[in-house]
Amino acid sequence: MFEVAIITASDKGAKGLREDLSGPCIKQIVEESDYKVVSMEILPDDRALLADKMIELADKEIPLILTTGGTGFSPRDNTPEATKDVIERETPGISEAMRMYSLKITPRAMLSRATSGIRKKSLIINLPGSPKAVRECLEYLLPTLDHGLKIMLNLDNECARK
Ligand code: MTE
Repeated sequence: MFEVAIITASDKGAKGLREDLSGPCIKQIVEESDYKVVSMEILPDDRALLADKMIELADKEIPLILTTGGTGFSPRDNTPEATKDVIERETPGISEAMRMYSLKITPRAMLSRATSGIRKKSLIINLPGSPKAVRECLEYLLPTLDHGLKIMLNLDNECARK
């Protein structure tokens, strides 16, 4: 069972002006896949604040950090930039796969600039902001994620044995 931290990036959510539906949606989905949610936060779309939170969570060695929101084209959409500020290694396959799958559902998937990467022993993945997008992306990612996390943490490198 891997631990997960969830960050919702939303100016309105952080001010209490909009209910965060996507964070709880992620929580429900990952818990159904046997992950353990250890942290849930709503932060404003502020690049430095988001980056600092990701650093803090990675310092705690939480293996999976999922963000939701702030991946689009609005001037306040800063999540991919904050993520790129802190990751040490990119994991483009994850973000490409998410977009590839999502494009089969909606052409608007091309409007997400979501990125992903590894900092220390944490994999950070940006998800788009809506509960619908969160569900669609996670349903495609989750079955493969477990294998990647095990390799990242050196727990079970079955690829190396083959
Ligand atoms: N991806 C999936 N799977 N499903 C969706 O409905 N919505 C798109 C895109 N990715 C969507 C999706 C839309 S409309 C936008 S604007 C971008 O994600 C960015 O969303 P964000 O700014 O909330 O992160």
